[in-house]
Parts: sequence; structure tokens; C-alpha cells
Amino acid sequence: MPLISDAIRVLSTADPRAKAARAREMTSAWRDTQLVGKSPTTLPDQPARPAKPELVSPMDVPRRRLGSSQGRGALLHAVAHIELNAIDLAADMIARFTLHPALRESDRKRFAADWTSVCDDEARHFLMLADRLEALGLSYGDYPAHNGLWEAAHSTRDNFPARVAIAPLVLEARGLDVTPNMINRLNGAGDHKSAQMLQVIYDEEIGHVATGARWFKYLAAQQADSAESYFHELVRTHFKGQIKSPFNEKARTLAGLARTYYEPLSVN
Ligand SMILES: [Fe+2]
Ligand SMILES: [Fe+2]
Repeated sequence: MPLISDAIRVLSTADPRAKAARAREMTSAWRDTQLVGKSPTTLPDQPARPAKPELVSPMDVPRRRLGSSQGRGALLHAVAHIELNAIDLAADMIARFTLHPALRESDRKRFAADWTSVCDDEARHFLMLADRLEALGLSYGDYPAHNGLWEAAHSTRDNFPARVAIAPLVLEARGLDVTPNMINRLNGAGDHKSAQMLQVIYDEEIGHVATGARWFKYLAAQQADSAESYFHELVRTHFKGQIKSPFNEKARTLAGLARTYYEPLSVN
């Protein structure tokens, strides 16, 4: 199948492991065929998801104390949920925007290559964590989770630059800020195996933010404003959450996201 149909198939698959498997199949099919396909007439408003986890308000997601195996399970579950969302976010980026007129025809394949590669990483991240949960006697779906990530993406479904500003450069960049502390806490609790997994994820997420930064700058170059002020305007208009410090400046800089992008938006 062409890429856009494959991306819609990922979004329409409810079973989490099957969704991840389809994301990986999409990426290898793209690498073989480089066939984009036609613009979708409709895209799912919400990606298909399993009956569990129950989606609740962020305030009702249980706190994660890492001293107990229960607490570690809840933390890994929360990260697995983020990765499952990230699969859908990358698939939606592909299905919705690969044929967007802001991309020059000659740049479309590079865009598709970048986001299929991100989607493949997210699928691996999810599967790794789902396996780890199972090794701990748990499974994805055992804890409630929230729908904040998809909601943030949904509000930018009609605005390509805003989507690129918010999904990778606000949400995934936030992951870079908080993951080192999770890794330390897992190591402190003696769970080196889980800590190593989060380290792999962290290293690859720097690449995802870098992908977002590259495409954001590409889109911003089509505007009269500076890339930074365009970013500020889009985030202020389309992102309802808060941009919280402390920032992982080292990782953000490595990803091509300078302080001038995020610091002026910070609430503290
Ligand atoms: Fe990920
Ligand atoms: Fe990611």
C-alpha cells in the first residue's frame, strides 16, 4: 500500500501491539517503494485505541512512587502510553501533511523518510516498554492514562506549522527535560533494566526533536517573521498547557532548539 494508506491503517488499528507492528511495516514498505499515494479524503479524528487503559483527567492519573515495583510499573506504563500516542502522532503527521502544499514536491520524500523513521522508533519504544511491563507481571492497559497528548495534537489538525511547533517541539522536547530524572530514579531504585530502556528512548528522542526543529525552520522560512517569533505566536495560540522550566538545555540545543525558542514562553 502507498504510504498515506499505511499511515491511516496505523491510526485505525486499536490493538496496541498490532498498531506498533503496522507502524514498523509502514516504514519498511516506504523504504522499499517510496510510494506516497493520494491525499486522504478523511482522517480519523481520534486514533483507534484499545478499551483499556481507561482515559481520565491528568489529575486522576496515579502518582508514581518508585520505591515499590507497583510505582515503577505505573511509571513505565505512563511512558508506554506516551509512546503509543507518539506512534499515532507520527502516523497522523504523515497522513495529514506529506502532501501539504507548504512542502515543495522535491522535499516530500525527505519529509516522509523523516517521519516514518520517527514512527518506527516510537513503535520500537512502545514494544520495548510493553515487554518490560509484562516481565514485571503487568500489561499496557492496567493503569488509567490521560489523553492530553492527542488533544494537543487534535487542536492543530488544520495547521501544519502549529502541529510541528507543538508535537515535537513542545511535547517531545518536554520529554527530554523530564527523562534524565526518571532514569536516575529508576537506577536509584535498582531497576537498571528499565533505566537502560529509558536511556535508549531518550537518545532517540533527541533525534525526534531535531527532526521537528528542521521541519519547523523549513516552514518558518516561508513566513515574514523570524522562526522564533513565529514559534512563539503558534504556541501561544494553539497550546493550552504551560511551558515549564527547568529545561534540558543541553539536549534541546543538541536537537537544534535554541533557548530563544522556548525561554520566552516559560511560565516560571
Ligand atoms: Fe518515543
Ligand atoms: Fe518521539
